[in-house]
Amino acid sequence: MKVDFLVIGGGPGGTPAAMALASAGRRVLLVEKGAGLGGTCLFEGCIPSKILRESARRLQDIRRAQEFGLQIPAGEIGVDWGAIMKRKAAILRGRAEGALQRARQIPTLSVQFGSAALLGPRRARITPRDGTPEDVEFGSAIITTGSVPNLLPVTGVDLPQVLTSEQVLEIDHLPKRLAVIGAGPIGVEMAQILAAFGTRVTLLEAGPRILAPVDEEIALALEDHIRRQGIALELGARIAAIVRDGDEVRMQYRDAAGTQREAQAEFVLEATGRRPNVDGLGLEHTAVRHDRHGVKVDAKLETDEPGIYAVGDVLGHPMFAHWATAQALALAAHLAGRAARFPAPAVNTAVIFSIPVVGIAGLTETEARSAGHAVGVARYDYRADARAQVSGHAEGFLKLVYDQSSRAVLGVHVLADDAASLLGEGALAVGAGIAVETLAAAIHPHPTLSESIGTAAREALAARASSARR
Ligand code: NAI
Repeated sequence: MKVDFLVIGGGPGGTPAAMALASAGRRVLLVEKGAGLGGTCLFEGCIPSKILRESARRLQDIRRAQEFGLQIPAGEIGVDWGAIMKRKAAILRGRAEGALQRARQIPTLSVQFGSAALLGPRRARITPRDGTPEDVEFGSAIITTGSVPNLLPVTGVDLPQVLTSEQVLEIDHLPKRLAVIGAGPIGVEMAQILAAFGTRVTLLEAGPRILAPVDEEIALALEDHIRRQGIALELGARIAAIVRDGDEVRMQYRDAAGTQREAQAEFVLEATGRRPNVDGLGLEHTAVRHDRHGVKVDAKLETDEPGIYAVGDVLGHPMFAHWATAQALALAAHLAGRAARFPAPAVNTAVIFSIPVVGIAGLTETEARSAGHAVGVARYDYRADARAQVSGHAEGFLKLVYDQSSRAVLGVHVLADDAASLLGEGALAVGAGIAVETLAAAIHPHPTLSESIGTAAREALAARASSARR
C-alpha cells in the first residue's frame, strides 16, 4: 500500500489532522491502536472524568436544595454508581461512533484499527487488530501517539489496589477511602469528584502547593476549597511505600515536617504525571530524536527526520487535547500548502475542572514578569457578583494580567464555579493581543460572569488614570 500521509494515533491530534489532510484531497491512512477514534481524552481522560464530575456536582447541588427553597424527601440521596458508569459508556460510544462516521465520509481517508511501527523514514508495518500485518509506504507521517501514565518507583506500586488515572475511571464501586498521589490536574479533579460522592480522600503532594503551573493565589485559594470539602491535603509529602493490608492498602509517607505517617485506603490513585508514548513506534529506524520529555520538533512540528512530524502529548508539555488539535490543524494546513499559524505556548488556554473550576488563558502574573513585561494586574471578586450570588456560588476571583506599556492583555486567570465559560473570551483577548481599553469598551451582558472581564479591564483603565494624576 502507498499513501501520501500516515497518521499514527487517532486522538484529538491525529483524527483532525487526518481528516483535514484527506479533505484537502490527500490519500491518508489513520492507524489507531485503541477501540475507537478519540484517544486518551475521549476514552480515559477529559470526557469520562467530566461525566463523573457532572454527577458529583449535581449531587452537591441537590444537597443544597433547601438553600434554593426546594424540598426533597428526608434521608440519604442515593448514588447509583452502575448507572453513572452506563451513562459514561453511552456518551463515549456515541462520540467514538460519530467521529468514525465523519471520518468514513471522506473518500481518501482510510481508518485502520491496529498498531503502526516505523521500519524506516518512508515505510511502516501496520498490524491490524484482526488480520495480517501489511507494510505501507508513505510520503509523510504524523506521530500523534499521546502519553501514558508515569509510575512512581515506589514499593507496592504494582499492587492491584494502585490505580492509574485511566483505571480509576473504570472502578466498579465507589471506594470508602482513597489516597491520591500527586495534586496536579488529574489528582485534584479526581480527589474532588470522589470526595463529592462521599469517599474519604487523602491527597498527597510532594511539592509545596497544588497545581504548580497555575497562578499561585488561585492555587492557594483552591487549597482552601479542597480542605473545606473534607479532603486531607498533605503538601510536601514524601511517599515511602504502599503496603497491603487485607483487601486495602496503607500508604506510608513522611509529611512536610518529616514525621512518618500512614493513610489507609481501598485504592491509591497514582496521578504523578504522564510521559510521551513512543514505545514500539520504531523511531530507532529513523532520525527522529526523543527523550523522556518527548519527541523533538522544530517550530513547524517537523522532527529531525524530514517528512516525519509530531503533535500533541507525544511532544511533552503542555498535554491538552485542545492544544493537540490546534497543532494538528495548523500542521495539516501547512502540509496542504495553505498559510498556517502554529499555536504559540504563551497563548495556551486550559481549564482544570476542580471545584470551583480554574481557568487559565495566557501568562500568569509571575510568567509575565519573568518575560520582562511591565505587568499590571486588575482583579475582580465574585463574592459581590450578581450572577455568582444568584447561582449560589459567590466565591472565587479573576485576575487580568496586562502589559502597562503596550496595554495588551497577557493573561486571564479565574477561580469560579463557571470559570470555563469565560475562557473563550480570555483566549481571544490573549491570542489577538487585545488592549484592556477594547475589553473595557465591550458591553458584557448583565447578569453574567463575563461582566467580570469588563469590570477588571475598567479597573486597569482607572489604575492608569490615577497613576497619571499622581
Ligand atoms: P502533573 O505533572 O500535572 O502533576 C503531577 C503532580 O504530582 C505534581 O504536582 C507533582 O509535584 C506531583 N508528584 C510527583 N511525584 C510525586 C510523589 N512522589 N509524591 C507526591 N506527589 C508527586 O500530572 P497529572 O495531574 O498526572 O496530569 C497529567 C497531564 O494531563 C498534565 O500535563 C495535565 O496538564 C494534563 N491534564 C489536564 C487536565 C485539564 O486540563 N483539565 C486534566 C487532567 C490532566
